[in-house]
Amino acid sequence: MIEIKSIYKNYENKYVKTEVLKDLNFKIDDKSIVAITGASGSGKTTLLNIMCGLDVPTSGSIIYDGVDITKLSKRKLAKFRLNNCGFVFQDFCLVSTLSVKENVKIAALGKDKKVDEKWYEEVIELLGLNDRVDYFPHQLSGGEKQRVAIARAIMTKPKVIYADEPTGNLDSENTIRIMNYLERYARENECIFVYVTHERDLCSIADIIINVSDKCVHI
Ligand SMILES: Nc1ncnc2c1ncn2[C@@H]1O[C@H](COP(=O)(O)OP(=O)(O)OP(=O)(O)O)[C@@H](O)[C@H]1O
Ligand SMILES: [Mg+2]
Repeated sequence: MIEIKSIYKNYENKYVKTEVLKDLNFKIDDKSIVAITGASGSGKTTLLNIMCGLDVPTSGSIIYDGVDITKLSKRKLAKFRLNNCGFVFQDFCLVSTLSVKENVKIAALGKDKKVDEKWYEEVIELLGLNDRVDYFPHQLSGGEKQRVAIARAIMTKPKVIYADEPTGNLDSENTIRIMNYLERYARENECIFVYVTHERDLCSIADIIINVSDKCVHI
């Protein structure tokens, strides 16, 4: 279970203070699929990044099975993310100098020092990347990059998958395919899947829909 407790997030500089999130409180049960929606600039990415420990809140706690990750040292937090979370970033964040094969294996190598080759073959097959494994990111289409990003995220068999608009660059056919795939992966592996989307239709697979507006969440 993930507990979000009294989360506040402000961005400040010398001149202005922007309050983005104010006193958020909610829980996500194990095995849940969660959609985060809201207008552009409402704070969806900020919330997702705080939940997965990529960003720190101004105050409040994010508790995974009793462990408050906002209290962990940077090193322990990095280890926590590696061991528990898979990320699909909106702009893919593939390493341009590495091939598809290397990009997909990199997180698993970081986590376990070795790659489960059988699982790697399965992931590549499932995402239809067989004939692209030796390509480099600049040789791939947007949809192919997105599939590589998803393959990399699930390669470590994470307990929680976070995805920021995972189908933002795909046509409707591929959007449905990828969302069905992520849903199936989450259900079969009993993990939590949290995704940001602008599209109402894509909320249909979610158990919980979290709408971010006026710095608050509405569930
Ligand atoms: N580093 C930062 N410094 C200052 N303000 C920031 C910073 N990062 C985000 N913000 C502000 O916080 C607000 C929320 O941003 P966020 O990226 O979370 O929105 P979003 O809901 O994901 O929007 P979109 O749908 O366009 O991706 C925005 O007004 C943004 O300008
Ligand atoms: Mg965003």
